[in-house]
Amino acid sequence: MARLLLTGGAGFIGSHTAVVLQQAGHQLVVLDSFSNSSPEALRRVEALTGQSIDVVTGDLRDPNAVERALAHGVDAVVHFAGLKAVGESVEKPLLYWDVNLTGSRVLLEAMAAAGCRTLVFSSSATVYGIPDHVPIPEAAPVQPNNPYGRTKAAVEQMLADVAASEPGWRVASLRYFNPVGAHPSGQIGEDPLGIPNNLFPFVSQVAVGQRPHLKVFGSDWPTPDGTGVRDYIHVMDLAEGHRAALEVLLDSADQQLTLNLGSGQGHSVLKVVQAFEKASGRPVPYELVARRPGDAASTVADPALAKELLGWSTRRGLEECCRDGWAWQQANPSGYR
Ligand code: NAD
Ligand code: UD1
Repeated sequence: MARLLLTGGAGFIGSHTAVVLQQAGHQLVVLDSFSNSSPEALRRVEALTGQSIDVVTGDLRDPNAVERALAHGVDAVVHFAGLKAVGESVEKPLLYWDVNLTGSRVLLEAMAAAGCRTLVFSSSATVYGIPDHVPIPEAAPVQPNNPYGRTKAAVEQMLADVAASEPGWRVASLRYFNPVGAHPSGQIGEDPLGIPNNLFPFVSQVAVGQRPHLKVFGSDWPTPDGTGVRDYIHVMDLAEGHRAALEVLLDSADQQLTLNLGSGQGHSVLKVVQAFEKASGRPVPYELVARRPGDAASTVADPALAKELLGWSTRRGLEECCRDGWAWQQANPSGYR
């Protein structure tokens, strides 16, 4: 049993990971500004697990807030907090560098001062940019093609530098592929503000009748049906990947891991539409439109290293992603609001 700080623990991935970590016997402290989440998510996590969470409301960039969170006697940190919208990062690059990079630096300084040197970081497959080959191994070139991705690559580099500077750091950068789905209870899930940028929340809002149709970005990609292919990972599999990474870190002396968390399976946009229609029993009308700037044809993880080093691999497929995402959407058509 460890005491863990989750920055951004009220968000989509943080809240699902909180359930898995509490059920594994860990005690949780969450630091969140609630800039992109609701305290209700944490109340529902507590209801699912029957255990309470210590919540510190504050900004990652505020050293006092981070210090207050670490003062709970934290053994390790899982660092989810950050901004994640690619388009917004192009419009507001300084905001992204500030929250994602400065926030991470403030966290590392406070951790060093508190003597806590164990960290799991939410990185992203976006660091690979447009990949040369799929599936993508961790050794593939890091060539992000937007400001958001560059902040993730920079934090990975900062973590490597810090870990090399003194003994005792145990760090894992987890490069998530496309997290989707929800807790099977339908009690917690993804709650995007405004118009979703990502495929899954958009498709589920079309199925529930909130939006008239999906725009499929590109039907002339070099893929089997011409639409973009991605590696969708069920958020509960992703949450279990964090538990596995933490357990490996907490069991070792110095450790530096950079790992893909993905399924190794690619699915096209049209395949996702069909799977969601089947899971929901609702039509998902769509229109084929032009490619979205900055998109890759296909991104699929090579998940072999995570399997080897963490003993972890995904257990849920596209069908469960759609089933659980739909259960959440139906029970909470306006999210937590
Ligand atoms: P999310 O927006 O749902 O969660 C992020 C959480 O961080 C929110 O609760 C938000 O309120 C909080 N937060 C934001 N800025 C903060 C600040 N300055 N101080 C304190 N708290 C702050 O996003 P998510 O999908 O759960 O993503 C979690 C992490 O995983 C992010 O770092 C994201 O970049 C990364 N990631 C996400 C995806 C994805 O598709 N969801 C893919 C790859 C990587
Ligand atoms: C996007 C981001 C990526 C980020 C990831 C997870 C871009 C260019 N990339 O990736 O950096 O790490 O989200 O947050 O924004 N699609 C449609 N219609 C839609 C939405 C998406 O056809 O309305 C297609 C896309 O073209 C793509 C697939 O669906 O082929 C998945 O899109 P999305 O969910 O946005 O994920 P990524 O493109 O992988």
